[in-house]
Amino acid sequence: MAILKAVRGTRDLLPPETELWNRVEATARAVFARYGFGEIRTPVFEATELFARGVGEETDIVSKEMYTWEDRGRADSDRGQSLTLRPENTAGVVRAYIEHKMGDAGMLQKLFYIGPQFRRERPQRGRYRQFWQIGAEVLGPAWSGSESALRDAEVLEMLAALLNELGVKGWRLALNSVGSVTDRARYSAALRDALAPVKHLMCEDNQRRAETNPLRVLDSKDPGDQEIINGLPKIADYLDEASQEHFAQVKAALNSCGVEYVVEPRLVRGLDYYTRTTFEFTVPDGGGLGTQNALLGGGRYDGLSEMLGGPKAPGIGFAIGEDRLILTLQAQAAETETKKMDAFIAPMGVGQNGAALSLASELRRAGLSIEVGDGSFRLKKSFEAADKLARKMVIVGEDEVSSGILTVKDFAAGEQTKVSRAELAAALR
Ligand code: HAM
Repeated sequence: MAILKAVRGTRDLLPPETELWNRVEATARAVFARYGFGEIRTPVFEATELFARGVGEETDIVSKEMYTWEDRGRADSDRGQSLTLRPENTAGVVRAYIEHKMGDAGMLQKLFYIGPQFRRERPQRGRYRQFWQIGAEVLGPAWSGSESALRDAEVLEMLAALLNELGVKGWRLALNSVGSVTDRARYSAALRDALAPVKHLMCEDNQRRAETNPLRVLDSKDPGDQEIINGLPKIADYLDEASQEHFAQVKAALNSCGVEYVVEPRLVRGLDYYTRTTFEFTVPDGGGLGTQNALLGGGRYDGLSEMLGGPKAPGIGFAIGEDRLILTLQAQAAETETKKMDAFIAPMGVGQNGAALSLASELRRAGLSIEVGDGSFRLKKSFEAADKLARKMVIVGEDEVSSGILTVKDFAAGEQTKVSRAELAAALR
């Protein structure tokens, strides 16, 4: 009989890898707690209408990526209801916020979630049909301070702190403002006008987007269309005074807390609910993600709650692609590992410097990559330095020099062995 396998685009997470998942989630929980976030868990499936209204009918997610079915139901009341596996969690959180009247207390709500999301995408490394997000939303009535630029900066500073605490290297924060709902509408109209005479020169996808959702043309990667896209009107010229001021405040707050960012005028993001600040954190290709290098994305929204039938509740949030974060951490760990030198020669005291250097020279001639200490370190210091630089350490003390038997420490295995000088090069490979 044929063996059954996990469905394309889904995968099993197994030990020991799940340890890393747990470490990432525990770190996220600890960081979120320091910033006053509480956990929310919403259902994995919701009424289809929630995403159609919340995320937007014209987005890629709603138009082609959702897992939707008509429920067979057991009672007449729910038979035939259209249900959808959540493709993202913001709409669900805002629905819960409205349903439980969480805004009534007038307090700012800071909510985080960790869980699987579902999109029918073409699977590839870093892109799955069931993937995990670690996300958060900060929302509340306007008088709770939910509109403040400080909240945007706080969320971004928290993300920088989280990525640093996890040890993600080389991340880059791209920032933009897409303005208010009316700014966006004016800008979309301007884009549509600018695209009308040239869109026939563009790829099929962009021809369609030029009509249905011209903002989406901006994040097109189609190489042939870049010249046209670069010449399109810029959102910055369509921001009203209040949005300009808000964006200026976000940037100033980030500057004062030392979070580096790059303003990217084309960053509009693929969901319809964004207003004002939008952002994305990426990692360089070295993260092993290739083009799927957006680790996380998010932004501010105003109007989403009303679109779902709720009271005014501006907010800001983000979602980290946990699968991508894990791939990045693994790739970066492997990179540092492979970059390590073969051995660190540690002379125990200045008197052994000559012997250490001659040994290093011998091993280098044998084709090994060798770093050599200078005898001024103490053993513990030498150990730490050697561990960072090399896979193994060779101790050169008086005894070793006279006996010709050297002590080799293997950092990964945590073992110490005695090796004769003749066999040393082979033992270090
Ligand atoms: P999003 O940009 O659609 O935003 O997704 C956020 C992150 O989820 C992406 O940057 C990526 O790392 C990850 N992701 C998305 N699709 C996949 C996939 N198929 N496989 C693996 N990872 C994926 C949102 O979902 C918004 N709800 C974020 C937000 C929260 N905005 C405001 N609040």
